[in-house]
This record gives sequence, C-alpha cells and structure tokens, in this order.
Amino acid sequence: MEGDPRFFKFLRERIGLDVASVGPALIERAVTQRCAASGAGNADAYWGLLLGSGAEQQALIEAVIVPETWFLRYPETFVALAKLAQARLAELKGKRELRILSLPCSTGEEPYSIAMALLDVGICPAMFKVDGVDISPLSVAKAQRGVYGRNSFRGADLTFRERHFDAMDDGYRLSDRVRQQVRLHVGNVLDPALLKGEPPYDFVFCRNLLIYFDVETQQRVFEVLKGLNDKSGALFIGPAEGSLLARLGMRPLGIAQSFAFVRDDTPPPEPAAPYVRPAPTTRPPPPSAPVARSRAMPAVPQVATPAAEKPVQVTLEQIASLANEGKSQEAMQACEQYLKHHGPHAQAFYWLGLLNDVGGDARKAQDFYRKALYLQPQHSEALAHLAMLLAAQGDSVGARRLQERAARSDRTADSERKR
Ligand SMILES: C[S@@+](CC[C@H](N)C(=O)[O-])C[C@H]1O[C@@H](n2cnc3c(N)ncnc32)[C@H](O)[C@@H]1O
Repeated sequence: MEGDPRFFKFLRERIGLDVASVGPALIERAVTQRCAASGAGNADAYWGLLLGSGAEQQALIEAVIVPETWFLRYPETFVALAKLAQARLAELKGKRELRILSLPCSTGEEPYSIAMALLDVGICPAMFKVDGVDISPLSVAKAQRGVYGRNSFRGADLTFRERHFDAMDDGYRLSDRVRQQVRLHVGNVLDPALLKGEPPYDFVFCRNLLIYFDVETQQRVFEVLKGLNDKSGALFIGPAEGSLLARLGMRPLGIAQSFAFVRDDTPPPEPAAPYVRPAPTTRPPPPSAPVARSRAMPAVPQVATPAAEKPVQVTLEQIASLANEGKSQEAMQACEQYLKHHGPHAQAFYWLGLLNDVGGDARKAQDFYRKALYLQPQHSEALAHLAMLLAAQGDSVGARRLQERAARSDRTADSERKR
C-alpha cells in the first residue's frame, strides 16, 4: 500500500487532494484503514472494490479529509465581514438579500459563525442568506444537527455561545434563529455543475482547503470561486493562501487579518474602523485556552523612514499587520529593523521567507525559512511553506522529510492540547 500511486491519483482527480502538499502518510493511513474495514485484504483487491463502489469511494474520501474547524476561526474576519455586509446592504437599498457562501463548510462552524456575526450587528434575518457546501455528507449531517462539543469553541471570548446556544447533555445546541439563516449542501468544488444557476454571492469564504491542492488545482478552484463571487464582492481565504490570489488578479482588501481579497479592478472600500490584534497564529489555540485579545494596537511606525537616522522599534504584531494588509515592502523593512534591534529571530525570518515567497523569489524565501528552522526547528509554518517550495521544485524527498517533521510537531502540539 505504501506509496501506491493509484490512490494518490484517484484522490487528486476526485477531490483535488495533492500528495505533495499533504504528504503521503495521510493518504496511506486512510487507504490502509479502509482496506482493513472493507475486508479487501490487499491493495489490488481494495483498488478493484474502490472502482466498483460509489459508497467505498465516499468512505475513502471521508477517511482522508481534514474537517478541522471551529466557531469564529480568525475572529477579525467576522468583524470585517459584518462591516462590509452593512456597507453592501446600504448600497443594495433593500433590492435583494445579501448572499454569502462558505465552501468548504465542514461541520458548519464557519457558515453559522457568519450568520451569528451578521445577526450580532443587528442585520435583519430577512436581509441575508448563507449557503454552506462541503464534500463530506457526514460533516454536512453534523452541521444540520447543529449540536457542538467543546472542541468547536476555542479562544477566550465565548460570549457568543451564551447568546446563540443552549447547553444540553451532549453539547451545545445552536438556536433556530441562527440555523434558519444557513442552507447546507453536499458538493464538490471541482464539480463544474456546482451551484449552477445560483445568482452570484456577495461574499465567498474558501478557507483552509486550497492548502491541500497543487497549484494547477488551486488555479482551477480560484476560477470557480471568481465565477461564484459577485464582481464587486469579496473572497475570504485562509492565512496561508494569500500568495496564490495575488497571481490571479485579486488584491487584499487591506483590513488587517481579515484575509479578504477583491478583484484588482474593484475600487477600494470605505476603510473599516481599525480592529487589530496581536500576531496571527495558524496553529489553533487549545480549546478554551486563554487568548490575549487586545482591542487596539499602537500605530504602526513609519518603517519607510530611513532607519539610519533614528532606529524605529517595530513589533512582530506590526510586521504581521503590514504583511496581512499586503504591504510587502514595508513589512520586509520592518523585519530588517526588527532583526537589527533584536538579533536573529525565527518569526522574523519566517515572515521574510513568506514575503519573498509571495513576491516570487523562491531562493531567498528558502534561505529565510531555513534560518527560521535553524533557530526554531519545529516552526510549523516555516516547515509547511518550505515543504511546498521544495515540492514545487521537484524535491519530493526533501518536501516529504519536512512534512513528516511538521506532522510530528503537530502530533506533539495535539497531545499537549489534550492534556
Ligand atoms: C479544514 S476544513 C475547513 C473548514 C472551514 N472552511 C474552516 O476554515 O474552518 C476542510 C474541509 O474541506 C472539505 N473538502 C475537501 N475537499 C473538498 C472538495 N473537493 N470540495 C468541497 N469540500 C472539500 C473537507 O471535507 C473539509 O471539511
């Protein structure tokens, strides 16, 4: 079963999953598990069974997907969405309801978070509708049930749970008021007929899916998403996915840590009131772990000012804000200043790696990722991005080694989280 390319190819064609991006271990584990559960005995027998059975194909897909999600994941996104939604509704002047898509929606936390965010700023239920789509029927069924355990609630601010959920014996039940705003469907983002005939969506969320795809599939999916998104709408993506969009005629909206993009020809929106918080982390905080929330950050210093005159002290949070707003040059200068002041630092090197990566300088990006890893060998984002770079350059052995290292570091973090 080890490294059997038939299964890699099948999953790539059916759901877009790219073995170089996720590493072979995830796929091999799922195939071994299904082979045992189906009683197939060996890889050839299982391959035959898979080809002849739609149910087994679905079972393999269920075994391989990563349904990880939680309510209000990257909270700034929802603050930004609520402001943009209010502005859009004012433009629409009641002509129609607002349309929002969450693809993939996994077990429902994302589309329900969208609905909660809009209801919480006083948008009338009749004025918006959210569609959630995911390839996994099991996840969609769980979303339809609307009952969630502790793992779906992470972060310090859980006041939304008191507003929108009832505590039950087996978890927290979402209110009907929120559930009624969301329609859930099973669907594949690679299916050309997906959502055919649906009017365009004002806001499309496609977060934490594209990282599992190769560049070709990502481009294909972005074309689909652009087609589903209203021309003056916005696309919300995951923190690690921004570099792809810049190459496809989209630009960041400029709201810190919202990871929102618009078409390059869209005029800039009215600036939303600043709401920023310290450094992003793509690693989820442990359930209910106290997460520091600061409402405002000191203004970002003028990093473009010649540093030689008077060195300006910048913080990692400010670097993150600049980078997330798409201000790459300023962010790079801020990194240099940070390193000058603090000496070698893994996170600053990581940002330099990412900024060079986004800017298309793979060689420099690699150097910086390696510096970050020298200082912090388990830096998960540096491991993941360097693995992607190596895979893109055809160094699958190097990429695989890094992915295994990242998986080990994730497992350690996971078991620490469960303690
Ligand atoms: C990590 S979750 C992301 C959920 C949510 N967007 C978030 O960021 O919290 C990834 C989801 O993508 C779904 N998925 C994987 N391949 C898909 C495809 N080809 N079409 C639609 N959904 C897919 C999986 O079932 C899984 O629920």
